[in-house]
Amino acid sequence: MSVPIAVLVSGRGSNLRALMEAEDKGQLGCSIRCVISSNSEAAALNHANVAGIETCVCAKPDPDAQLLEILEQQEIALVCMAGYMRILSPAITTPYAGRILNIHPSLLPRYPGLHTHRRVLEAGDAEHGCTVHFATAELDGGPRIIQATVPVLSDDDEDTLAARVLEQEHQIYPQAVQWFCQGELRLDGDTVWLHDQQLEGPIAHAVA
Ligand code: GAR
Repeated sequence: MSVPIAVLVSGRGSNLRALMEAEDKGQLGCSIRCVISSNSEAAALNHANVAGIETCVCAKPDPDAQLLEILEQQEIALVCMAGYMRILSPAITTPYAGRILNIHPSLLPRYPGLHTHRRVLEAGDAEHGCTVHFATAELDGGPRIIQATVPVLSDDDEDTLAARVLEQEHQIYPQAVQWFCQGELRLDGDTVWLHDQQLEGPIAHAVA
């Protein structure tokens, strides 16, 4: 059975495309029912339109009320935040607890929020990466599922580092969505279960 999912976006949409490509190859077990943007100019909306996926822009005055209505109407089973630059309120995170995933370009809990690559370089960290986690109403907060770690190289700038991390984002997000859609991944309270095992911390993705 194909799990109906919604993807929330605000910008470029490369993670949306990674999910669309994996779905096209039959790897996810889901069907992307709609792409919802906080921003009418998001390039991600074009990717969805080209693929014939329904799109919607949720704007003020009450974007979460609009979002909730769409999720309920479309009977969405999983919400994937893919560069969605708005914090969801409890109006969404409470009814959809355990059914919202987010991807973030850092090794959470380090560097929630913006400009993660710059902050990693400024701190002189040796490693950086990305995380997929169950989302809560806290900015980039919630139980972690999978992380990929990449080295920070001595000649890195923000762009080179961001590109190395993004490549891994496109690996770990489809992986997490596949686990969820296959019924292998679930959240119980604050505990993440994967393949019937309780996770003590995020799975470390093997970076090729
Ligand atoms: C990605 O790097 C994603 O991890 C990040 O926004 C970018 C969106 O790129 N998300 C966050 O920072 C969430 N706090 P994309 O539109 O090309 O997928």
